[in-house]
Amino acid sequence: MRLKHLFLVIFYFVVYCRENESYKILGIFHTPSKSHYIAGGALMKALAEKGHEVTVISPFPQKKPLTNFRDVSVLGIEKLLDELFPNITDMESMGVAEKLNLTLTFGVIMANFTLTHKVMQNFLSTDNVAYDVIVMQIFMNEAFLGIGHHFKAPIVGFSSFGASKWTNDMVGTPTPMSYVPHIQLKYTDRMTFFQRVCNVLAYVGETLYMDWIYMPKQAKVYNEIFPDPKPTLDELLRNVSLVLVNSHFSLQFPRPYVPNMIEVGGLQINQTPKKLPTDLQQILNNASHGVIYFSLGSNVKPKNIPSEKQQEILNAFRKLKQIVLWKWDDPLVPGKPDNVFINSWYPQDDLLAHPNVKLFITHGGLLSITETIYHAVPVIGIPLFADQHLNMAKAESQGFAITILINDLSEATLSTAIAEMLNNDRYAKKIKLMSDRYRDQPLTPLETAVYWTEYVARHKGAPHLRSAGLDLSFFAYHSFDVFAVLFVAIYSVWRLMKFLFRRIVLRLWRKCSTNEKKNQ
Ligand SMILES: *[C@@H]1O[C@H](CO)[C@@H](O)[C@H](O)[C@H]1NC(C)=O
Ligand SMILES: *[C@@H]1O[C@H](CO)[C@@H](O)[C@H](O)[C@H]1NC(C)=O
Ligand SMILES: *[C@@H]1O[C@H](CO)[C@@H](O)[C@H](O)[C@H]1NC(C)=O
Ligand SMILES: *[C@@H]1O[C@H](CO)[C@@H](O)[C@H](O)[C@H]1NC(C)=O
Ligand SMILES: *[C@@H]1O[C@H](CO)[C@@H](O)[C@H](O)[C@H]1NC(C)=O
Repeated sequence: MRLKHLFLVIFYFVVYCRENESYKILGIFHTPSKSHYIAGGALMKALAEKGHEVTVISPFPQKKPLTNFRDVSVLGIEKLLDELFPNITDMESMGVAEKLNLTLTFGVIMANFTLTHKVMQNFLSTDNVAYDVIVMQIFMNEAFLGIGHHFKAPIVGFSSFGASKWTNDMVGTPTPMSYVPHIQLKYTDRMTFFQRVCNVLAYVGETLYMDWIYMPKQAKVYNEIFPDPKPTLDELLRNVSLVLVNSHFSLQFPRPYVPNMIEVGGLQINQTPKKLPTDLQQILNNASHGVIYFSLGSNVKPKNIPSEKQQEILNAFRKLKQIVLWKWDDPLVPGKPDNVFINSWYPQDDLLAHPNVKLFITHGGLLSITETIYHAVPVIGIPLFADQHLNMAKAESQGFAITILINDLSEATLSTAIAEMLNNDRYAKKIKLMSDRYRDQPLTPLETAVYWTEYVARHKGAPHLRSAGLDLSFFAYHSFDVFAVLFVAIYSVWRLMKFLFRRIVLRLWRKCSTNEKKNQ
C-alpha cells in the first residue's frame, strides 16, 4: 500500500513538473490596428498566466504591468499609416488589384519602419535571451522571419485572418482551386465552371504578384537589416514551425490543412464572461424589450461617416422600444434620443454574452463575427472595408445576417432591417445552430493555441510536422514530371506495338492469305 502511494506521489510530481515546464517566449505583433492585436495579445497573456516568461514586441503595451510579461513598445506605426493613407474609407472606390497593391506596398514600408525602429534595433543588439519559441503575427512582414534566425528560435506564425496564400505557403497547406474560393472572391465552395475560371485567375494573379513584386521587396528589407551570413528569406519562409489561423471549420467551408496549421478562431473570446461595469449591467438587466448593440469597430472614426447619415441612424433608433448601445467616439451627436446610449468603448465580448442583447449592428470584422456567433446574437452588417464585405456576404449566405451597404444606409433601410431581425426568428435560430457547432470543441481555441505553442517549444521546433511538399518543385509537387514520363512511355509503347503489328502480324496475315489463294 505504501509503495503504491509513493508511486502516486512520484507520478503526480512528474506530471506537475511537465505541466509547469516554463519556456521563454517572444511575441512579435506588428500591426497598426488594435483589433489585429486583440487575438494575439490574448494568447500571449494566457502563456504568461501559465507561467512562461513572455516578452512582447508590439505598438500596444499593457496599461497595467502583468506578471511574467515584458512589453517592448515599438510605437509610431499607427501614425505612419495615417500619414501614408489618411482616408481609409477611400479604399472602397478601388478595384481588388489596386487595393491589394496598395495594401502590400504599405506593408513593405511598415515592415521596414518597425525593423529599422530604434527600439527594435536596440532590442536585437542587446537582448540575449535564449527564446524557446517566437510567436509572430504574419501580416505583410515576412522580413521579420530574420528575427527567428537571429535568436535561433523556431517560429509559430499567427494569422489574424483565416488561411491565406502567405500562411499556407509557409507550411505547405494545399489549396485545391477547384473548391477553395479565393478569400477576395464572394464564392462558396461549390462553384460553377465560370466561377472556377475566375478563381484560378485570382490565385494565379496573386501568386505572380506575390512572387515577382512583393516578396523581392520584403527580401530587400530582410537583406538590409540582418547581417550575413544568413539563409535566404525564401528558406526562412519555408521553415516556419507552425501556423495558427483565426478560423474554425464550423464557420468556414471545409478545407484541407497540414497538421502544423491549427485553427484557433475566436481565441480572444472569454469563455466565462467578465463582470460588466455596474451601470452597464443595470441598463442591460432593466431593458425589458431587449438591447441592440451597435459598433463599427475601432478603425472607423466619426469623420468617416457623414453627419446626415448619423442623423438617419438616430432617427431609425428613435422609433424603437429597445435600448441601443452605440460604440462611437462622438458622445455629443445632436438629437440623441433617450433610448440610445453612446460610449467610446464597450466590453463587446462580455456585453454580447448578456441574454438581453437581441441584435448586433456591426461593421463585420472577423473578430466581431466570431464573437457574435459564439454568443448567438444575429447581425445587421454595415461593411466598410478590408475583409468586411466578404465576411458579411458569407454571414448572409449562412442565414444569420442582413447587409446594408454604407451608400444605401438610411432611416428606412435600417428600420426595415431591424424590424425583420427582431420579428423573424429564423436569423436567431440559424445563429444558435452555428453557435452550438462552433462551441463543440475538445479544447477552447485559447487552450488549443497555448497547447500548440508549447508543443513547438517542447519539441524544439517540431521538425517532424514539416511537410515534405515544401521541398518539391512545382512540377514534382503536382507530379507533372511523372505524368509527362508516363505519357511518353505509354505513347512509345503504343507506337511500338503499332509498328510491330504492321510489320509482323500484317505481313504474316498477308502471307497466309496469299498461301490460301494459291491452295484454292
Ligand atoms: C478624405 O476624403 C474626403 C472625401 O473624399 C476629402 O474631402 C478629404 O480631404 C480627405 N481627407 C484627407 C486627409 O485626405
Ligand atoms: C502599386 O502601388 C504603388 C504605390 O501607390 C505604386 O507606386 C505602384 O506603381 C503600384 N504598382 C502597380 C503594379 O500597380
Ligand atoms: C528602409 O528604411 C530606411 C530608412 O529608414 C531606408 O534607408 C531604406 O532604403 C528602406 N529600405 C527599403 C527596402 O525600403
Ligand atoms: C434599473 O432598475 C432598478 C430597479 O428597478 C433601478 O433602481 C435602476 O435605477 C434602474 N437603472 C437604470 C440604469 O435604468
Ligand atoms: C529551421 O528551423 C529549425 C528549428 O525549427 C532550425 O533548427 C534550423 O536551423 C532552421 N533552418 C534555417 C535554414 O533557418
